[in-house]
Amino acid sequence: MKVGIIGGTGGIGQGMALRLSQNHTVYIGSRKEEKAQAACEMCGYALKVLGLPFDLNPTTNQGVVDNSEIVVFSIPAENLERTIDSLTGLEGKIIVSLMNPMIRTDYFKYNPPEEGSAAIQLQKLLPDSKIVAAFNNIPAGKWQKLSEPLDYSVCVCSDHEDAKEKTMELVNSISELEAVNAGPLAVSPYIEAITPLVINIARFSKKRDVGVYFK
Ligand SMILES: NC(=O)c1ccc[n+]([C@@H]2O[C@H](COP(=O)([O-])OP(=O)(O)OC[C@H]3O[C@@H](n4cnc5c(N)ncnc54)[C@H](OP(=O)(O)O)[C@@H]3O)[C@@H](O)[C@H]2O)c1
Repeated sequence: MKVGIIGGTGGIGQGMALRLSQNHTVYIGSRKEEKAQAACEMCGYALKVLGLPFDLNPTTNQGVVDNSEIVVFSIPAENLERTIDSLTGLEGKIIVSLMNPMIRTDYFKYNPPEEGSAAIQLQKLLPDSKIVAAFNNIPAGKWQKLSEPLDYSVCVCSDHEDAKEKTMELVNSISELEAVNAGPLAVSPYIEAITPLVINIARFSKKRDVGVYFK
């Protein structure tokens, strides 16, 4: 598949690129192409050292939209509207949101927009796109540890069955990830809210790479 990551230069974006680019064509997007170039070089070097194959391409965020079948939004949720305003051609695309709006006080707290979740907000802003919430609960650090398997469940929800199926296929193509069908996009607030929960558990229980696996 051709998968592009908007904000692909961040911790989660680069981690995803490291894993996905071994089996898929991946576009790392940025507001600045030279930043995407640097991220691609870094990821490419790490994969080359391990003798792993990869297909990684630097581009702008608009280049991600232009080239990808699946567009992943991997930016801080508060920058969503401004980022969408800067892009064209998102109609009809499968758009995966892994964004988890939250704030930090003495603990991490889910802080959704008035629409209910970042994914629902995205669907309202882009009514002609197929929004899917997925990959919300996997820590960036774990994506980046290529010597370790990614063995988590990935909750996937959407109001577009074809987009959900394609995204589940993508999830199941990565390491030991297991896609679970969580239903319609209305479920996305519960999925996004798992992330502050696991971060709080990691922090207060002094555990690393906390995630979820549903049996
Ligand atoms: N970190 C995790 O472990 C994790 C896990 C699951 C989900 N998530 C979610 O994934 C998303 C990205 O997380 P992250 O930790 O990778 O975040 P991040 O490093 O803070 O940001 C990711 C990228 O977003 C772009 N960005 C930053 N400010 C922006 C702005 N004002 N307008 C447009 N783009 C902007 C930057 O790319 P350019 O400067 O190159 O444009 C940046 O590299 C978040 O919504 C988070 O909730 C994170």
